[in-house]
Amino acid sequence: MRSFAGRDILSLKDFERNEFFRVFEAAEKLEPIARNRRNADLLKEKTLVTAFYQPSTRTRLAHEAAMLRLGGAVTGFADAKMTRAGDFYQESIKDTVKMLEFYGDAIVMRHFQKGAPHEAAKWSSVPVINGGDGWGEHPTQILTDLYTVLREKGRIDGLRWVAIGDMRMRTMHSLGHALTQFDCPITFVGPQEMAMPEEYKADFRDACLDFAEADHVADVIADADVILVEPVVQPDYTKARDEREGDVGETFEAYKITRELLTTKAKSDAILLHSLPRMDEIPADVDITRWSRYWQEAFNGVVMRMALLALVLGKME
Ligand code: NCD
Repeated sequence: MRSFAGRDILSLKDFERNEFFRVFEAAEKLEPIARNRRNADLLKEKTLVTAFYQPSTRTRLAHEAAMLRLGGAVTGFADAKMTRAGDFYQESIKDTVKMLEFYGDAIVMRHFQKGAPHEAAKWSSVPVINGGDGWGEHPTQILTDLYTVLREKGRIDGLRWVAIGDMRMRTMHSLGHALTQFDCPITFVGPQEMAMPEEYKADFRDACLDFAEADHVADVIADADVILVEPVVQPDYTKARDEREGDVGETFEAYKITRELLTTKAKSDAILLHSLPRMDEIPADVDITRWSRYWQEAFNGVVMRMALLALVLGKME
């Protein structure tokens, strides 16, 4: 297995099966620190730089919380408008990263352009973690989700997935790549105009992913062990910021997970994931049902980032 020390986490396309399990093992080991709210000192003398060119609640703060839990420090920006990259100068990724690499020991970047963290990694001497790049990928979120499945179901192989939402979403692409390494068939359910892009389907076929597409969640939910949901009512991920203007509309029934649907059609031990934020695709009354695991998933988001930071910073092998 390749060492994680010094490595960029940009995509799950190049992640090997045993590397997933190494990351899960590290997460399991560090989990008690987060659960007991007891900070440790594994990453003391290390600093994480956050470079967020797009809004974020969970990804940025979970990375920061992870760093703080492990005794490290954090600096960075949550809005590129406060930097020269987001004003008159529109400073390039290269020039910005040539600065950031001196301000800390790892960089986590979210950007509205697909491939921006990859470009950053070309110029950075410290590891770059992709915190979501446009309609590209979101590797740390899907590592969190798989870890959640492992913790909640005790295994990953042999489980059937249904993913519902906008298939242009970065989480969906990382999910497809990840499941190529497991025995996990998946059905993607989304509107035609938000279908899985051909380039990803080609990758999934090349890597022998057992995947199908369906039009309505009610047709496929009965077989699912893991139900992963993303919005179909949502902003344009290629923009630095997309403000809400007027009425944004409602989610069609075909992409909505209601209590009624779960009660009448889902397996009684299926689990329901959502990276959040949500619109109306999962109504709040689903939160206190036995299917929901998205708060657990959010907690695991901190644990997963602790593991990834400890690994890429060379403090766990
Ligand atoms: C993402 C977000 O906020 O942009 N959610 C998340 O990181 N938890 C949505 C996404 O990229 O899927």
